[in-house]
Amino acid sequence: MDLFDKCYAFTRADEIKALDMYPYFTPIQEVIGNKVNVNGREMIMVGSNNYLGLLEHPGVKAAARAAIDRYGVATCGSRFLNGTLDLHVELEERLAKFMKREAAQTFSTGFQTNLGIIASLADREKDVIIADRQVHASIVDACRLSGARVLKYAHNDMEDMERMLATAPADAGKLIVVDGVFSMEGDLAPLPEIVRLAKKYGARIMCDEAHGIGVMGENGRGTPEHFGVEPDIDLVMGTFSKSFASLGGFVAGNAKVISYIKHHARSLIFSASITPASAATVLATLDIIESEPERRARLWQITRKMKAGFEAMGYDTGRTQTPIIPLIIRDDERAFMLWRFLREDGIFTNPVIYPAVPQGESLIRTSYSATHTDEELDQVLASFEKCGRLLGILK
Ligand SMILES: Cc1ncc(COP(=O)(O)O)c(C=O)c1O
Repeated sequence: MDLFDKCYAFTRADEIKALDMYPYFTPIQEVIGNKVNVNGREMIMVGSNNYLGLLEHPGVKAAARAAIDRYGVATCGSRFLNGTLDLHVELEERLAKFMKREAAQTFSTGFQTNLGIIASLADREKDVIIADRQVHASIVDACRLSGARVLKYAHNDMEDMERMLATAPADAGKLIVVDGVFSMEGDLAPLPEIVRLAKKYGARIMCDEAHGIGVMGENGRGTPEHFGVEPDIDLVMGTFSKSFASLGGFVAGNAKVISYIKHHARSLIFSASITPASAATVLATLDIIESEPERRARLWQITRKMKAGFEAMGYDTGRTQTPIIPLIIRDDERAFMLWRFLREDGIFTNPVIYPAVPQGESLIRTSYSATHTDEELDQVLASFEKCGRLLGILK
């Protein structure tokens, strides 16, 4: 038996490529505003998490260039040793202040942030993690890595969550982990009810705000701000790869807890720190998030327009309450066909199938930027209507 046998037997991706139906790893040759160039063809991007439209902001690009000039293109080391720049320290202070928390710690990606927080805090065989069944893959892997007992509850089902909490030993440390905004379907975790149950059973709460920061809440601090429960959420995690238009992640919370994570998280200690350009980008986008609330207002205006437009045509947009708008198709093949028709019409979307969503819930995920123009959005709606009718998805 050769370890690589499974690799030689894996033909599914090649078969789908041969049918010209392969939607993954598509190389983008150029980004021009909300349009991208794919194989020489201009497409409207409605598949990015660039929520505030800062990816190409001239001031942000200038800040990244200035950081390269001052510090070089990389740090070539971990935060723990040679990879801490004054820029990282400034960024962590700014993030803590923005999030209204005592301290913040950055990591090299959002994925590593979740690995680091959960695996350092939840002790093997001693502690219990209570997690929604639809949390992000990085949380699933973090739970496995921690070795703690993991109790999963049905998506957003608070009765099921309470059942899980009740089965956890009273003397075990308990951590409830949720996505504030669920990344594929755009629905929200019911934080007020989660807070009530956490208090009843003595559990701590960690909220993944990858898609919430910059988008949710009056000041963009995420779903805890949106629901008015910030003091009751112990740890808030965010990633820089969405509203912040950069790469990396962070956790914010109580100073003692952040210090513990900082000195125990292996995904932090044994990995190089974010590049100077990435750190400077986040500082520059943070300035804009704080000073230009009109971007968030425009994003919500776009969200309302698109959701209403899709629903008027007869599309099922599920339970979304955010700028992530899924078009739920259910059948994998039809979802891929719709994606392909849209691609041919110049619309860049993401088809999502099991295991990223439950079986039979395949969808086309769309998401919006504050900088999308009405003209672009109208073109997207018209294309969805045309393709949906051609495929018989719309009557
Ligand atoms: C909910 C959620 N958490 C964590 C991550 C990981 O973030 P990153 O892309 O920075 O690794 C993502 C991004 O894919 C996400 O959607």
